[in-house]
Amino acid sequence: MTTRYRVEYALKTHRRDQFIEWIKGLLAVPFVLYSQPHGAIDRQGTVNLSQTREEAHRRYSEILRDVEGMIDDHIAHQNDPENPFPSKLKLLVPSIGPFFTRLPLEAAFKYQDSKRYISSRRFVSPSFNDVRLILNSAQMMAVTTYGTLQLATFDGDVTLYEDGQSLEPTSPIVPRLIDLLRKNVKIGIVTAAGYTTADKYYARLHGLLDALASTTELNPSQKQSLIVMGGEANYLFEFSPSSPHLLAPVPREKWLTPEMAAWDDRDIAQVLDVAEAALRDCVRTLNLPAVLMRKDRAVGIVPNPPETRIPRESLEETVLVVQKTLELSAAGRARRVPFCAFNGGRDVFVDIGDKSWGVTVCQRWFGSSSEPSRGQGEGGAIKGQNTLHVGDQFLSAGANDFRARSVGTTAWIASPAETVDLLDELAELMEKRAS
Ligand code: IMP
Ligand code: MG
Repeated sequence: MTTRYRVEYALKTHRRDQFIEWIKGLLAVPFVLYSQPHGAIDRQGTVNLSQTREEAHRRYSEILRDVEGMIDDHIAHQNDPENPFPSKLKLLVPSIGPFFTRLPLEAAFKYQDSKRYISSRRFVSPSFNDVRLILNSAQMMAVTTYGTLQLATFDGDVTLYEDGQSLEPTSPIVPRLIDLLRKNVKIGIVTAAGYTTADKYYARLHGLLDALASTTELNPSQKQSLIVMGGEANYLFEFSPSSPHLLAPVPREKWLTPEMAAWDDRDIAQVLDVAEAALRDCVRTLNLPAVLMRKDRAVGIVPNPPETRIPRESLEETVLVVQKTLELSAAGRARRVPFCAFNGGRDVFVDIGDKSWGVTVCQRWFGSSSEPSRGQGEGGAIKGQNTLHVGDQFLSAGANDFRARSVGTTAWIASPAETVDLLDELAELMEKRAS
């Protein structure tokens, strides 16, 4: 449990996605066996490159079709509470979670191969990013083919705008979000950024909010289909053309789920106290150029002076220390209030609640009734299979979008530019279906 445990933890658990690594490993086999690296230097032309590419394409497709079948089997297990045995996929990838839709991986691979020329590569095997994008494409196909997308939720930093920046009027994301609203998809911006007042959110989102206020493309009900859920699951604002900063705060009693309403202020304070002490400890022991920031529903450390960069290793160490300290504390063990410790890229925050609650609130807000739901959509809330959360933080530890996976489908992007590509892919699929 000591050094080896810690080394393995550091190398594996929090820096890797086991499902993606597993698929990568499967694709590495045909890559090694059938790629023809000497083709690049073959002057006689004895290596037929198009044939090698076709062979690689066929074998990668077959593997992804097999994984697709395993996911179907996993879903069958998931839907059969009587079955005591784990699915084959669960045995092979123990960290695998629930699936809200099947995933057409073979078709998604073919699509990404046509864009990324994965099968044409002879020196670089199918990578983490290749697999991540194949999974995203499969999820886009699934939410538009097997059902109807009703709710799209978006993380803020890195997903809608660069880290620490804001959504400017010139951002290519703005017209794409308006287009989603025009297609009657509800939108929730589910960000960790926790502010109690509308002006702060307006500062981050003004490009979208101003466009929404002035557009003639949307009817009033479509305009009403945008909400902002801040601080993971702590502050709700709805779009309101007549309010200052175009956002109106919604009082908590109007949207808290019964579970959330039961979170006690004393427990919240206790979690934040433990987190604050652990953060202060890290600032001291790692000599971090940072100051502590305590809010009513969060505590974090931010760089000081603001333009300094805290080393990535120090940020990661801090998250893992705080996470462990909280888990082992009396407040953490009691599990009365959920919390989320994450590395924001430049800072570290511990928030009360997490994005699974934030997305759940959006599902209920836009659903037809206010009955409780956690991804299952009882009582008229939008279901997990009709929900898509787009974010950049999906590692299992020290990341905050990860939790949204328990209540809906997700797409893992790495930059705002990738969000643009994803939204284009989604729009094309939705239009194809509509016609
Ligand atoms: P997200 O990517 O939209 O979830 O935003 C995460 C970033 O919001 C963090 O990295 C912080 O820089 C910033 N932030 C501001 N206030 C808070 C807070 O109360 N909790 C967590 N993050 C915050
Ligand atoms: Mg983010």
